[in-house]
Amino acid sequence: MTTKLTVLATGGTIAGIAGNAIAHDYKAGEIGIEDYLERVGGLGLEAELSGTQIANIDSANIGPDVWGPLHAAAMAALKDPDCQGIIVTHGTDTLEETAFLLDLTLPASKPVVVVGAMRPADAVGYDGLRNFANAVRVASDPQAAGRGTLVVMGDRVFGARDVYKVRTRGTEAFRGFPRESVGLVTPASLEWFGAPWRSGTEALFGWPDALPEVAIVYVYAGLGGDGVLRQVGDNTRGIVVAGVGEGNMPESARAVLVALARDGMPVIRASRADEGLVDREPEDAANRFVAARALNPQKARILLQLLLAGGETDPAAIQRAFDGR
Ligand code: SIN
Repeated sequence: MTTKLTVLATGGTIAGIAGNAIAHDYKAGEIGIEDYLERVGGLGLEAELSGTQIANIDSANIGPDVWGPLHAAAMAALKDPDCQGIIVTHGTDTLEETAFLLDLTLPASKPVVVVGAMRPADAVGYDGLRNFANAVRVASDPQAAGRGTLVVMGDRVFGARDVYKVRTRGTEAFRGFPRESVGLVTPASLEWFGAPWRSGTEALFGWPDALPEVAIVYVYAGLGGDGVLRQVGDNTRGIVVAGVGEGNMPESARAVLVALARDGMPVIRASRADEGLVDREPEDAANRFVAARALNPQKARILLQLLLAGGETDPAAIQRAFDGR
Protein backbone atom coordinates (compact mmCIF):
# COMPACT_ATOMS: atom_id res chain seq x y z
CA MET A 1 0.00 0.00 0.00
CA THR A 2 1.28 3.50 -0.83
CA THR A 3 2.35 5.51 2.20
CA LYS A 4 1.09 9.08 2.52
CA LEU A 5 3.84 11.44 3.65
CA THR A 6 3.84 15.15 4.41
CA VAL A 7 6.90 17.12 3.24
CA LEU A 8 7.64 20.35 5.10
CA ALA A 9 10.19 22.35 3.12
CA THR A 10 12.44 24.99 4.67
CA GLY A 11 15.09 25.51 1.94
CA GLY A 12 18.82 24.77 2.17
CA THR A 13 21.18 23.29 -0.38
CA ILE A 14 18.79 20.42 -1.04
CA ALA A 15 16.67 23.13 -2.73
CA GLY A 16 19.70 25.11 -3.92
CA ILE A 17 20.70 26.17 -7.45
CA ALA A 18 24.15 27.06 -8.77
CA GLY A 19 23.24 27.78 -12.40
CA ASN A 20 26.21 25.69 -13.46
CA ALA A 21 26.97 22.00 -12.78
CA ILE A 22 30.53 22.64 -11.59
CA ALA A 23 30.25 26.04 -9.88
CA HIS A 24 31.47 26.44 -6.30
CA ASP A 25 29.01 29.20 -5.39
CA TYR A 26 25.28 28.69 -5.33
CA LYS A 27 22.14 29.93 -3.64
CA ALA A 28 20.41 27.77 -1.04
CA GLY A 29 16.60 27.69 -0.92
CA GLU A 30 15.77 28.38 -4.58
CA ILE A 31 13.51 25.48 -5.60
CA GLY A 32 9.94 25.64 -4.33
CA ILE A 33 8.29 22.57 -2.85
CA GLU A 34 5.89 22.02 -5.80
CA ASP A 35 8.81 22.06 -8.21
CA TYR A 36 10.80 19.79 -5.88
CA LEU A 37 8.02 17.22 -5.67
CA GLU A 38 7.81 17.20 -9.47
CA ARG A 39 11.55 16.52 -9.63
CA VAL A 40 11.31 13.56 -7.22
CA GLY A 41 8.12 12.37 -8.99
CA GLY A 42 10.26 10.57 -11.58
CA LEU A 43 12.08 8.44 -9.02
CA GLY A 44 9.29 5.85 -8.69
CA LEU A 45 9.05 6.30 -4.93
CA GLU A 46 6.31 4.23 -3.32
CA ALA A 47 4.79 7.14 -1.44
CA GLU A 48 2.18 9.80 -2.01
CA LEU A 49 3.84 13.10 -1.13
CA SER A 50 2.07 16.32 -0.23
CA GLY A 51 4.21 19.38 0.39
CA THR A 52 4.06 22.63 2.35
CA GLN A 53 6.55 25.45 1.99
CA ILE A 54 7.39 26.62 5.50
CA ALA A 55 10.33 28.77 4.35
CA ASN A 56 12.85 28.71 1.53
CA ILE A 57 16.04 30.00 3.07
CA ASP A 58 19.65 29.27 3.87
CA SER A 59 19.54 27.49 7.22
CA ALA A 60 22.02 30.00 8.68
CA ASN A 61 18.92 32.22 8.91
CA ILE A 62 16.68 29.69 10.62
CA GLY A 63 15.49 30.41 14.14
CA PRO A 64 12.32 30.88 16.17
CA ASP A 65 10.48 32.67 13.30
CA VAL A 66 10.65 29.51 11.21
CA TRP A 67 10.64 26.98 14.05
CA GLY A 68 7.18 28.09 15.24
CA PRO A 69 5.36 27.52 11.91
CA LEU A 70 7.40 24.36 11.28
CA HIS A 71 6.41 22.90 14.64
CA ALA A 72 2.75 23.85 14.10
CA ALA A 73 2.69 22.23 10.64
CA ALA A 74 4.35 19.08 12.01
CA MET A 75 1.79 18.88 14.83
CA ALA A 76 -1.06 19.22 12.31
CA ALA A 77 0.42 16.43 10.18
CA LEU A 78 0.86 14.19 13.23
CA LYS A 79 -2.84 14.65 14.03
CA ASP A 80 -3.94 14.07 10.40
CA PRO A 81 -5.10 10.45 10.00
CA ASP A 82 -4.18 10.73 6.30
CA CYS A 83 -0.51 11.35 7.08
CA GLN A 84 1.72 8.41 8.01
CA GLY A 85 5.03 10.21 8.30
CA ILE A 86 6.75 13.60 7.98
CA ILE A 87 9.83 14.65 6.03
CA VAL A 88 11.44 18.04 6.75
CA THR A 89 13.84 19.32 4.08
CA HIS A 90 16.45 21.62 5.61
CA GLY A 91 19.83 23.23 5.06
CA THR A 92 22.64 21.23 6.62
CA ASP A 93 24.32 24.09 8.51
CA THR A 94 21.81 24.25 11.38
CA LEU A 95 19.98 21.00 10.66
CA GLU A 96 21.11 19.46 13.94
CA GLU A 97 19.53 22.27 15.96
CA THR A 98 16.14 22.16 14.23
CA ALA A 99 16.11 18.35 14.36
CA PHE A 100 16.91 18.31 18.10
CA LEU A 101 14.27 20.97 18.82
CA LEU A 102 11.67 18.87 16.98
CA ASP A 103 12.91 15.76 18.78
CA LEU A 104 12.24 17.38 22.14
CA THR A 105 8.89 18.99 21.28
CA LEU A 106 7.06 16.58 18.96
CA PRO A 107 5.27 13.38 19.93
CA ALA A 108 7.07 10.32 18.54
CA SER A 109 3.83 8.77 17.31
CA LYS A 110 4.78 8.82 13.59
CA PRO A 111 8.13 8.92 11.80
CA VAL A 112 9.65 12.41 11.56
CA VAL A 113 12.71 12.59 9.30
CA VAL A 114 14.88 15.63 8.60
CA VAL A 115 16.95 15.54 5.40
CA GLY A 116 19.36 17.84 3.58
CA ALA A 117 22.00 17.77 0.88
CA MET A 118 25.57 19.03 0.55
CA ARG A 119 25.42 19.85 -3.17
CA PRO A 120 22.87 22.05 -4.97
CA ALA A 121 20.26 20.47 -7.22
CA ASP A 122 21.96 21.33 -10.53
CA ALA A 123 25.47 20.29 -9.43
CA VAL A 124 27.18 17.22 -10.78
CA GLY A 125 26.82 14.56 -8.08
CA TYR A 126 23.76 16.18 -6.43
CA ASP A 127 23.15 14.12 -3.30
CA GLY A 128 19.68 15.53 -2.59
CA LEU A 129 17.69 13.05 -4.66
CA ARG A 130 19.36 10.04 -3.08
CA ASN A 131 19.02 11.51 0.42
CA PHE A 132 15.36 12.36 -0.23
CA ALA A 133 14.61 8.86 -1.59
CA ASN A 134 16.27 7.43 1.53
CA ALA A 135 14.21 9.75 3.74
CA VAL A 136 11.03 8.50 2.05
CA ARG A 137 12.12 4.94 2.79
CA VAL A 138 12.65 5.77 6.50
CA ALA A 139 9.50 7.88 6.91
CA SER A 140 7.45 5.04 5.36
CA ASP A 141 8.66 2.49 7.89
CA PRO A 142 6.31 2.06 10.89
CA GLN A 143 9.40 1.04 12.91
CA ALA A 144 10.72 4.59 12.53
CA ALA A 145 7.93 5.76 14.85
CA GLY A 146 8.82 5.89 18.54
CA ARG A 147 12.48 6.72 17.83
CA GLY A 148 12.14 10.48 18.07
CA THR A 149 13.14 12.76 15.21
CA LEU A 150 15.56 11.10 12.81
CA VAL A 151 18.06 12.58 10.35
CA VAL A 152 18.92 10.97 7.02
CA MET A 153 22.15 12.02 5.33
CA GLY A 154 23.83 9.74 2.80
CA ASP A 155 22.79 6.15 3.39
CA ARG A 156 22.71 6.56 7.15
CA VAL A 157 20.01 7.28 9.70
CA PHE A 158 20.92 9.23 12.85
CA GLY A 159 19.05 10.13 16.01
CA ALA A 160 18.50 13.91 16.20
CA ARG A 161 20.07 13.96 19.67
CA ASP A 162 23.29 12.42 18.35
CA VAL A 163 23.77 13.90 14.90
CA TYR A 164 26.11 16.79 14.14
CA LYS A 165 27.77 18.29 11.10
CA VAL A 166 31.49 17.52 11.01
CA ARG A 167 32.58 18.71 7.56
CA THR A 168 31.99 21.83 5.51
CA ARG A 169 32.27 19.96 2.20
CA GLY A 170 31.67 16.51 0.77
CA THR A 171 28.66 14.27 1.12
CA GLU A 172 29.85 12.39 4.24
CA ALA A 173 29.40 15.49 6.38
CA PHE A 174 27.51 14.12 9.40
CA ARG A 175 28.37 11.91 12.33
CA GLY A 176 26.57 10.75 15.45
CA PHE A 177 27.79 10.97 19.06
CA PRO A 178 27.55 9.12 21.39
CA ARG A 179 25.47 6.81 19.19
CA GLU A 180 26.74 6.59 15.61
CA SER A 181 24.13 5.98 12.93
CA VAL A 182 21.12 4.02 14.20
CA GLY A 183 20.21 2.58 10.80
CA LEU A 184 21.44 2.01 7.25
CA VAL A 185 19.14 2.91 4.38
CA THR A 186 18.93 2.77 0.61
CA PRO A 187 15.84 3.69 -1.40
CA ALA A 188 14.97 -0.04 -1.36
CA SER A 189 16.11 -1.27 2.05
CA LEU A 190 16.34 -0.21 5.66
CA GLU A 191 18.13 -1.87 8.56
CA TRP A 192 17.87 -0.67 12.15
CA PHE A 193 20.70 -1.27 14.61
CA GLY A 194 18.86 -2.09 17.80
CA ALA A 195 15.69 -0.99 19.53
CA PRO A 196 14.60 2.66 19.87
CA TRP A 197 16.48 4.30 22.73
CA ARG A 198 13.61 6.51 23.86
CA SER A 199 10.44 5.11 25.35
CA GLY A 200 6.89 6.36 24.98
CA THR A 201 5.50 8.65 22.31
CA GLU A 202 4.63 11.75 24.38
CA ALA A 203 6.43 14.99 23.51
CA LEU A 204 9.17 15.65 26.10
CA PHE A 205 8.46 19.42 26.15
CA GLY A 206 5.46 21.55 25.24
CA TRP A 207 5.96 24.18 22.55
CA PRO A 208 6.99 27.39 24.35
CA ASP A 209 5.50 30.86 23.75
CA ALA A 210 9.06 32.15 23.37
CA LEU A 211 12.59 30.77 23.58
CA PRO A 212 14.62 32.64 26.22
CA GLU A 213 18.00 34.01 25.18
CA VAL A 214 20.89 31.66 25.98
CA ALA A 215 24.46 32.73 25.20
CA ILE A 216 27.20 30.35 24.11
CA VAL A 217 30.51 31.49 25.62
CA TYR A 218 33.35 30.18 23.46
CA VAL A 219 36.47 29.36 25.48
CA TYR A 220 39.96 29.84 24.04
CA ALA A 221 43.48 30.06 25.41
CA GLY A 222 43.77 33.39 27.19
CA LEU A 223 40.03 33.99 27.72
CA GLY A 224 39.56 36.23 30.75
CA GLY A 225 36.57 37.41 32.77
CA ASP A 226 36.12 40.46 30.50
CA GLY A 227 36.06 38.18 27.49
CA VAL A 228 33.27 36.16 29.09
CA LEU A 229 31.22 39.27 29.80
CA ARG A 230 31.66 40.53 26.22
CA GLN A 231 29.95 37.33 25.02
CA VAL A 232 27.00 37.68 27.41
CA GLY A 233 24.22 40.12 26.49
CA ASP A 234 21.77 42.03 28.68
CA ASN A 235 18.90 39.66 27.85
CA THR A 236 20.85 36.49 28.58
CA ARG A 237 18.91 34.10 30.80
CA GLY A 238 21.35 31.18 30.62
CA ILE A 239 24.89 30.38 29.46
CA VAL A 240 26.39 27.39 27.69
CA VAL A 241 30.18 27.31 27.96
CA ALA A 242 31.87 25.79 24.90
CA GLY A 243 34.81 24.81 27.08
CA VAL A 244 38.19 23.35 26.22
CA GLY A 245 38.63 19.63 26.79
CA GLU A 246 36.00 18.26 29.15
CA GLY A 247 34.25 21.60 29.66
CA ASN A 248 37.25 23.41 31.14
CA MET A 249 38.08 27.13 31.16
CA PRO A 250 40.80 29.51 32.40
CA GLU A 251 40.52 30.43 36.10
CA SER A 252 39.71 34.11 35.42
CA ALA A 253 36.84 33.09 33.11
CA ARG A 254 35.67 30.51 35.64
CA ALA A 255 35.56 33.09 38.44
CA VAL A 256 33.15 35.30 36.45
CA LEU A 257 30.98 32.34 35.41
CA VAL A 258 30.81 31.03 39.00
CA ALA A 259 29.71 34.49 40.17
CA LEU A 260 26.98 34.56 37.51
CA ALA A 261 25.85 31.02 38.39
CA ARG A 262 25.74 31.78 42.13
CA ASP A 263 23.64 34.81 41.23
CA GLY A 264 21.05 32.49 39.65
CA MET A 265 22.16 32.31 35.99
CA PRO A 266 22.11 28.67 34.80
CA VAL A 267 25.58 27.79 33.44
CA ILE A 268 26.16 24.60 31.44
CA ARG A 269 29.66 23.24 30.88
CA ALA A 270 29.90 21.76 27.36
CA SER A 271 32.96 21.18 25.18
CA ARG A 272 34.25 22.70 21.98
CA ALA A 273 35.92 19.32 21.24
CA ASP A 274 34.48 17.23 18.44
CA GLU A 275 33.27 14.33 20.58
CA GLY A 276 32.65 16.21 23.74
CA LEU A 277 31.41 14.06 26.60
CA VAL A 278 31.43 16.34 29.66
CA ASP A 279 30.79 14.74 33.04
CA ARG A 280 30.19 16.44 36.35
CA GLU A 281 33.26 17.39 38.33
CA PRO A 282 33.38 17.64 42.14
CA GLU A 283 33.31 21.49 42.16
CA ASP A 284 30.16 21.69 40.00
CA ALA A 285 27.79 21.50 42.98
CA ALA A 286 29.42 24.42 44.82
CA ASN A 287 29.81 26.39 41.55
CA ARG A 288 26.16 25.70 40.59
CA PHE A 289 27.40 24.43 37.22
CA VAL A 290 25.66 21.79 35.09
CA ALA A 291 27.52 19.27 32.88
CA ALA A 292 26.25 19.00 29.29
CA ARG A 293 27.07 15.27 29.08
CA ALA A 294 27.04 14.28 25.38
CA LEU A 295 25.29 17.38 24.03
CA ASN A 296 27.39 19.80 22.01
CA PRO A 297 27.08 23.54 22.83
CA GLN A 298 24.44 24.32 20.20
CA LYS A 299 22.23 21.41 21.30
CA ALA A 300 22.80 22.18 24.98
CA ARG A 301 21.55 25.69 24.17
CA ILE A 302 18.28 24.33 22.72
CA LEU A 303 17.65 22.08 25.74
CA LEU A 304 18.42 24.91 28.18
CA GLN A 305 16.09 27.27 26.27
CA LEU A 306 13.21 24.78 26.62
CA LEU A 307 13.95 24.26 30.32
CA LEU A 308 14.07 28.03 30.96
CA ALA A 309 10.87 28.54 28.94
CA GLY A 310 9.21 26.11 31.37
CA GLY A 311 10.48 28.15 34.32
CA GLU A 312 13.26 25.76 35.36
CA THR A 313 16.39 27.41 36.81
CA ASP A 314 17.43 24.92 39.51
CA PRO A 315 20.87 23.46 38.58
CA ALA A 316 20.02 20.02 40.01
CA ALA A 317 16.81 19.77 37.95
CA ILE A 318 18.61 21.07 34.86
CA GLN A 319 21.36 18.48 35.42
CA ARG A 320 18.72 15.71 35.52
CA ALA A 321 17.39 16.89 32.14
CA PHE A 322 20.92 16.81 30.66
CA ASP A 323 21.52 13.36 32.18
CA GLY A 324 18.33 12.02 30.55
CA ARG A 325 18.79 9.37 27.83
C1 SIN B 1 22.18 25.76 4.42
O1 SIN B 1 22.43 25.25 5.53
O2 SIN B 1 21.07 26.24 4.13
C2 SIN B 1 23.25 25.85 3.39
C3 SIN B 1 24.21 24.72 3.43
C4 SIN B 1 23.59 23.37 3.18
O3 SIN B 1 22.39 23.15 3.13
O4 SIN B 1 24.41 22.41 3.04
